[in-house]
Order: sequence, then C-alpha cells, then structure tokens
Amino acid sequence: MAQPKRIGILSAGGDCPGINAAIRGVGKTAIVRHKMEVIGISSGFLGLIKLDYTPLSEQALSGILTLGGTILGTSREKPFKKSGKPNVDKPDIIKKNYKKLGLDCLVCIGGNGTQKTANLLSESGLNVIGIPKTIDNDVWGTDFTFGFDSAVTIATDAIDRLHTTANSHKRIMVIEVMGHHAGWLALYSGLAGGGDVILLPEIKHDIKVINRYLLDRAFKKKPYSIVVVGEGIEKPKNEVSAADYISKMIEKGTKIDTRKTILGYLQRGGSPSAMDRILATRFGSHAVDLIAKEDYGKMVINKNNQTSDILLSEVGGKLRLVPETHSLIEKARSLDICMGDECIS
Ligand code: F6P
Repeated sequence: MAQPKRIGILSAGGDCPGINAAIRGVGKTAIVRHKMEVIGISSGFLGLIKLDYTPLSEQALSGILTLGGTILGTSREKPFKKSGKPNVDKPDIIKKNYKKLGLDCLVCIGGNGTQKTANLLSESGLNVIGIPKTIDNDVWGTDFTFGFDSAVTIATDAIDRLHTTANSHKRIMVIEVMGHHAGWLALYSGLAGGGDVILLPEIKHDIKVINRYLLDRAFKKKPYSIVVVGEGIEKPKNEVSAADYISKMIEKGTKIDTRKTILGYLQRGGSPSAMDRILATRFGSHAVDLIAKEDYGKMVINKNNQTSDILLSEVGGKLRLVPETHSLIEKARSLDICMGDECIS
C-alpha cells in the first residue's frame, strides 16, 4: 500500500480551548515531517456532508496555537442518527465525499459523541483517527482531555472572586460549573478554589446534610461559604438549573443570605492554558504518527502522563465519570469539605 498522502481533519461537538493547538499539531506534523496534504473540513461532520472544506497550508497553521475556539468551526451534526428523511443516507454521503476528496484518513477531534461517530465511520470502512477534547474531561479511555485544564483555571478564578464578595456580605455563594453528567470540573475547580461544599453528579447529595454543615460553619468557623455545584447533579424536573435549585434549598433551610452564579460558556472560551496547548500538541502529533504507520481505528489518549492510543471501538458510547473512590474526593473529605452526602463536622 502507498504511503498516506492526504488527510482530512474536523472538529465536532462543543468547542473548547486547545482545538486549534491540536489542528496545528496534526497539520504541521503531517506537512513538515510526513510530507502529507491536509484538508480542513468545516463545521464537523456537516462539512463532510456538504463538501465544505479548505486545504490547510503550513502558513495557515501559523499563529493559531494560542487561539480559542476552532478555526474549522464545529457543529453537533450526528450523521448516524436517523434523520426521518428516507432518501437521505448521511453516512453514505460522507463515505462518497471522503473518496471524492481523495482522503487516506480522517482525523476527528471531539468528545464522546464524536468518538462514537468516528468509530462507526471506521467500522464502515473509512480510515479514522480520534483525538479527544472537552472541558468535561469525560471521554472514556484517557486520563485527560484538552480543554479541561483551561476550564478548571477559569472556574477557579471565578471561585476566587466569589470568596471576597461572599466575605464582605457574609453570604453563601453557590457557583454552577459545567461538566455535563461528570463532576471532574466541579471537583478540580472546587478543590483549587477552596470550595466548602462540592457537589458532583456522581455523589447523591442530601440537602439536610449540606444545610447542617453550612449552619455549623456560620456559627463556629466562618460567616461565609462557597458551594461549587456540577451542572449535572440530581434535581427535580421542574428546576431549570442546579445552582437555582441548590441556592433556593440552602436559603430556605439555613435562612442565610444566598446568591447564585452560573458560569456557563465563559468556561469554554478564550486562549488555552499552557498545559492544554502541550496536551493538544502531543495528541495532534501522535495522531499523525499513527496515520504514517497506517495504524487506523484508534483514539489518541493520555495515560499516566504518557501519550498513547486505544481502539476507537473500545471508546464508543462510554462515559468516564468520577469514581466515588477517587483520591481527590477522599482528600477533600479529610479537609472537612462537604461532598453533599456526609460530613466530618
Ligand atoms: O460538553 C461540553 C459542554 O460544554 C457541557 O459541559 C455542557 O453541558 C454542554 O457542552 C453545552 O453544550 P451546548 O454547546 O450544546 O450548549
């Protein structure tokens, strides 16, 4: 078989800091080291359906390392989801366009949904490599995804700012961070920001335990408290947001003035942290080394701070949640941080 010559690259799903660093890592390694051509596909899988793309030269990749977002654009297009239109077979269109573009491999940068689609495309006969990204850090098989470190830094900075205003007014401040069904972002930013209560979707909380703990702090320790809440925690169906629900329940139960902040999309925007730039660069470069060896159907991972890869078929459809036995949860508990279920004091 001839050496792979032409690769396509796309970013799909929610954006995050570090995607451009990964595009650059893939593109420069492919062009400079392996003399390949690189085609940038616009707006995720939608670009492959609509044949919307731009060839990426080495020059086009200069200066994007520090840029947030994605120069290719993204979408939540899921080509394998039934469209309801009997004559539209999106996977088939993608396969035809992959051939039309003369691609030897497709690199898919994305979270769980994207890796699932990448695996289905690989099973249907295309050469595919996955690169995991998301601020949620919930992609199965890798210790870290890029985007996570930047989001933790932004959320920690926000929590730091809440401390001073909470102290001035002797209030309880509830801050909701993203993470979808996983509590990685809440756990890391909660610990780094000195949260007093940290609520993760993975740990069932008891509002009575939380209120008892907060009242105890108010009487014995500090007149203000910070509560960090993952957006995916359990809440009644009629409640719009986790922060809304928790802050209402706290104020009702403690009678202490309580305010809420929903950090939202600020966590996904802006320039990637140094660690995310490094991780994305390592992932991008490793992806092309796999392509050069024609070792397809793999997703690049970070395990014990080493870059390696696993089969895409192992990843598809699985979520990486925080295990209840995670060492950081145990450390938080030893510091008398309330995790919502039980507290030392
Ligand atoms: O997966 C990343 C993420 O930012 C989640 O934390 C959040 O729940 C979701 O995406 C929001 O996605 P959308 O861009 O569809 O609003």
